Amino acid sequence: MKFKALICLIFWQVLALVSFGASGSAAVTCQLALKGARQEIQKNKFITNRSLENYSSRLFPSFRQRMSELKPNDLWIDLGGGEGRAAEEYLQSKINPLEAAQVYLITYVGRRSSILKRKIEIPSFQGKLKVLEGRFFEEIPDQEIPQADMITDFYGVLSYTGDLSLTLRKIFRHLKLHGELYIHSSNMVTSIETSNGVMSLTSFLKSLSGLQVEGQDGILKITKEQEEIKVPPLSLLSSGLNPVGFHRRFQLQEK
Ligand SMILES: C[S@@+](CC[C@H](N)C(=O)[O-])C[C@H]1O[C@@H](n2cnc3c(N)ncnc32)[C@H](O)[C@@H]1O
Repeated sequence: MKFKALICLIFWQVLALVSFGASGSAAVTCQLALKGARQEIQKNKFITNRSLENYSSRLFPSFRQRMSELKPNDLWIDLGGGEGRAAEEYLQSKINPLEAAQVYLITYVGRRSSILKRKIEIPSFQGKLKVLEGRFFEEIPDQEIPQADMITDFYGVLSYTGDLSLTLRKIFRHLKLHGELYIHSSNMVTSIETSNGVMSLTSFLKSLSGLQVEGQDGILKITKEQEEIKVPPLSLLSSGLNPVGFHRRFQLQEK
């Protein structure tokens, strides 16, 4: 079964490379692939309403405990949080919302679009829920997003962005020292070409210094262990759909 998925992946990667014009200059190819990545996000043909139980049972196991330990002055950012069901269920679980941590839901397409159409207010849980919707995370000025104790990215920005190095740098700037990043992605949706072969997102993250990376196959807990995390530049070579999801192929810019 795994072998079949691998064959499919190779086929779709070749197809994606061909369809995004390997013949053009590298810069043009990169622009086309970036545009393709953004169009995919705008189409929003995803599952966008996973429950808190779904997050808890599928993210790295310590997520459940970490979430239960969040204090009122802590900040949880749900990156690419979609309709924000998990965040809302977390806030609903508190009898008094003021006992909950502050939650930032950052998402390009989320619930506000559909809710505005129905003219229903999104509950703010006494100011505990802040929604930044309608912009790409990469373009939100740093001043608008405080540093977080915990960031989750459940098939969110990291699985779709066309600018992976910029996104990772920004995530680590918004994560406090000793803060935790929980990622749920798949090694099948991100490939990184290097002079030593192709790396997955998991192995790329494990190669960065200053991070403690636990987990495998895109289901990761990352603890930030030093203030500044250096992420080398990655340029987007191609993007397109494959049987597992939206696949992007990057190239590591080695010195
Ligand atoms: C597959 S959905 C997952 C939603 C949610 N995490 C869940 O599991 O229900 C991906 C979400 O990430 C958002 N997203 C993807 N790339 C983004 C970006 N670069 N900036 C902001 N939001 C992004 C999309 O708008 C979408 O809501």
